[in-house]
Amino acid sequence: MRKKLIVGNWKMNGSLQTNQVLLASLCQAFDPANADLAICGSTPYLSQLQTCLSASSIEWGAQDVSSHESGAFTGEVSASMLKDFACRFVIVGHSERRQYQGESDDLVAAKAQRALAAGLTPIVCVGETARDREAGRTEFVVKRQLSAVIHAVGHCTSELIVAYEPVWAIGTGEHASAEQVQSVHRVLRAQLQAATGHSDRNRILYGGSVSPSNAAELLTLSDVDGALVGGASRDAHQLLSIVSACRP
Ligand code: 13P
Repeated sequence: MRKKLIVGNWKMNGSLQTNQVLLASLCQAFDPANADLAICGSTPYLSQLQTCLSASSIEWGAQDVSSHESGAFTGEVSASMLKDFACRFVIVGHSERRQYQGESDDLVAAKAQRALAAGLTPIVCVGETARDREAGRTEFVVKRQLSAVIHAVGHCTSELIVAYEPVWAIGTGEHASAEQVQSVHRVLRAQLQAATGHSDRNRILYGGSVSPSNAAELLTLSDVDGALVGGASRDAHQLLSIVSACRP
């Protein structure tokens, strides 16, 4: 049985002051019996995450990592730097980076590889646009995105966390239906199983307008192992109620 994992993706939000208040509330009320919990913040706040969360059972991570190990790459942040701040996770291939930074499947795969080499767990995001879905290309797109990563990381595939985030459901308030989520997760599970020989190793998270009102429905689906939460992760009460929806 895979324990559920809720990951808050703060995106480019927060300040030292507001983070402090939010993290204190999370530490006070988080119950690890229900699910694992992690926060992925912006790079300047990794030190704050480490300081505030070290004594708790909440883990933390980053939202991106360089595909390079080190060197003349101004503005980039390496996997070993993330390790310096005791990150456990790093999100790679978020659709906002694919869209606004033009990240390709191959670049995302190289980032996942770099993260694994440094001992970080990559959370690999895949997901179709509304146009892909209308054209009946959902399965093709998510399989292509994941296959690039599997090809690059080989026998480390069992270490990956995958997040299915339909682009049209992100930040829109319109989450994918239970049937849509379960059907894509089943496809991803089969793809991971074919690559690793294991059916129960990888956690597959759903992301896209997850909220306290839909968490119970989505998080009890058989192939959903947790959630990647954007907007609602900036509110302690909402994030903790999503965690509670995982109650075994
Ligand atoms: P929302 O929960 O705000 O839709 O964002 C989802 C997301 O992009 C998490 O990575």
